[in-house]
Amino acid sequence: MIEIKGLSKRYGTLTALDSLTLDIGPGQLFGFIGPNGAGKTTTMKILACLLQADAGTAKVCGMDVRTRGDDIRRVIGYMPDFLGVYDDLTVDEYLQFFASAFQIPRTQRRRIIDQCLELTDLTAKRDALVDSLSRGMQQRLGVARVLIHDPKVLLLDEPASGLDPRARIEMRMLLQELGRMGKTLMVSSHILTELGEMSTSIGIIERGKLLYAGSIEEAFSRARDAGTGERIAVRLEPEGATPEAARALLTADRRVARVVADPGQRELTIELVAGEHGHHFIIETLVKGGAKIAAFQPEGIKLEDAFLKLTTGALQ
Ligand SMILES: Nc1ncnc2c1ncn2[C@@H]1O[C@H](COP(=O)(O)OP(=O)(O)OP(=O)(O)O)[C@@H](O)[C@H]1O
Ligand SMILES: [Mg+2]
Repeated sequence: MIEIKGLSKRYGTLTALDSLTLDIGPGQLFGFIGPNGAGKTTTMKILACLLQADAGTAKVCGMDVRTRGDDIRRVIGYMPDFLGVYDDLTVDEYLQFFASAFQIPRTQRRRIIDQCLELTDLTAKRDALVDSLSRGMQQRLGVARVLIHDPKVLLLDEPASGLDPRARIEMRMLLQELGRMGKTLMVSSHILTELGEMSTSIGIIERGKLLYAGSIEEAFSRARDAGTGERIAVRLEPEGATPEAARALLTADRRVARVVADPGQRELTIELVAGEHGHHFIIETLVKGGAKIAAFQPEGIKLEDAFLKLTTGALQ
């Protein structure tokens, strides 16, 4: 659905995109991840036909962005990173405006807008002013707006930015629902964990270069190869051995890469050497050393660690 080949874009002397190549198949929920200034918005604007690349090609549904802009606009829904200001417009009027802009026949507008409101859980806010909505609701309204013409491909630029944890979960559920509806989604974020678990594949971009594209599992396995181990969080009871003592015991084991102790919270974070999966020896070592375990939580490989390994070029 999205095919990008050797795409480059410069702003003056700054190279924002450096020969980016990327494929996103139908029905995928693609997490486009990178730090600030990586080139995410630039890529999405080129795909949305709002910006021209200097070199390379980009196609949406097989159509070239340079020559088929009008056709592409009909099959994509692009949600920019900022909603803009809409003084004195209600949620319903806002959606009516976009429905008419997309030339949805008058007789169908009511039904389509109601469906979009329902899907984004904004039915109760139909008559509220757009500017009075919370950030989370505004972001959901942004999604409602790009659904009006029932596009096949959605380009959503940081839909979860600035949201509190609850609103973020709601946004995640909405994106997953869109995935189930068969839409192809490209969703950007600078936070890997925000998208990691729900994406069918991810791409990691930094300074205009794609560092990684593929499945989450593959990212983990590459991170493992690059030396990222699994983590386990342990909390100790106050009456047993201290976290510092426990730390000394565990650090001596060659299966353990690192132990961070937080004496105040009586907690330990244990990182195993890459490729090591056993947890039992930790419990044995702690018990033998006189520690009383209050909680034991294997956390697997942290996505953030994998991300750091990928973006520091350790895998290049
Ligand atoms: N209109 C512009 N003029 C000049 N430089 C620009 C312009 N737009 C973007 N840039 C630069 O291009 C680079 C990529 O920007 P872009 O907005 O695509 O990054 P991003 O990944 O979306 O970042 P963010 O996470 O902050 O939204 C940045 O260094 C940015 O400063
Ligand atoms: Mg951006």
